[in-house]
Amino acid sequence: MSARVLQDHGLGLYLCESTQIHGEASSAAAWYAAALSTLDALPAPPPQKTGFAGPKTAPTETMKVPQDLQPLIDDGVIDEVIRSLKSGKEATVYLVRSGTHLRCAKVYRDMTQRSFQRRAQYQEGRKVRGSRETRAMNRGTRFGRREQEHEWKNAEVDALYRLAAADVRVPRPFGYFNDVLIMELVTDASGDPAPRLGEVELSPDVAREYHIFLMRQVARMLSLGLIHGDLSEFNILLAPDGPVIIDLPQVVNASGNNAAFAMLERDVNNIRTALGRFAPELLQTEFALEMWALYETGELHPHSRLTGIVVRDEPPADPASVIEVIEDAREEALRRRIGREERVE
Ligand SMILES: Nc1ncnc2c1ncn2[C@@H]1O[C@H](COP(=O)(O)OP(=O)(O)OP(=O)(O)O)[C@@H](O)[C@H]1O
Ligand SMILES: [Mg+2]
Repeated sequence: MSARVLQDHGLGLYLCESTQIHGEASSAAAWYAAALSTLDALPAPPPQKTGFAGPKTAPTETMKVPQDLQPLIDDGVIDEVIRSLKSGKEATVYLVRSGTHLRCAKVYRDMTQRSFQRRAQYQEGRKVRGSRETRAMNRGTRFGRREQEHEWKNAEVDALYRLAAADVRVPRPFGYFNDVLIMELVTDASGDPAPRLGEVELSPDVAREYHIFLMRQVARMLSLGLIHGDLSEFNILLAPDGPVIIDLPQVVNASGNNAAFAMLERDVNNIRTALGRFAPELLQTEFALEMWALYETGELHPHSRLTGIVVRDEPPADPASVIEVIEDAREEALRRRIGREERVE
């Protein structure tokens, strides 16, 4: 493979832009080089059977309205609560009807002591309303906790608006009412709630398409200064036109958080592992390092060209000098042995 060295990004690595791929290059590299040139218009993945066996959206009877959603019914924001889609660690997501549209309503759980501490790591570097609020949050007072709670719930709403506006494929937000986020219901081809990436079997080709698409999405987020922070095959839904990234309350501010690179790397590698099951050559890619190096030097743009190939800054071994060192060592050993033998005589 011939590659043009772009820059030393101070991480002990060089980024290379591949210009030509020859026979010995990995098939992943060749595939990426070909696919990335047309990536912005990711072809819609072929319709596939996902194997999702979730219940149908059409209910036989509607459920009792949960307390948190009653104000939204009273205000006419939603008309009906159809059923709970999933009750997770941080929130319960309901399937609701708003006029003739099916939507998702995400109701956040109140914080426990444990999640309060866990969240602090993600919230580092986020801009909050003012210095009084920041001090209170840092001290962990009751007011501070309320602020942190408020900040956590709002972070997902803000992130969805920012990301949707920047063409990152996330559920379209429809507003935030009484601590409840109303958003687009992501569905599969038959209108059922979409399956999660971790619940389907994929062909190698579809896995590669999804991987490239998701790397571009992560890079686009990073170019806005955001890192998902909890990206995995369980926070990616599969719509007929491709993957949709969900679940963003922990979104991380890339420039103000000491653990930012570690979180980016975890996100990127979770996707690599999940899709590498179907297309093992993906496991060789190094998108986190590549994106981060570009981000740190201010060169990452929403349409930056990425290769997934990182050449580390290790000098190539020179066979002639290695042989010379071995010869020197051998001569030295011989001299010492002769010296010992002469002393004994
Ligand atoms: N916009 C959406 N469209 C369709 N389904 C959704 C949508 N948002 C969430 N879901 C479903 O609800 C589940 C939980 O949503 P989400 O991950 O946002 O909440 P969570 O409380 O953080 O859950 P977990 O702890 O499982 O990660 C998702 O895995 C998905 O199945
Ligand atoms: Mg989730």
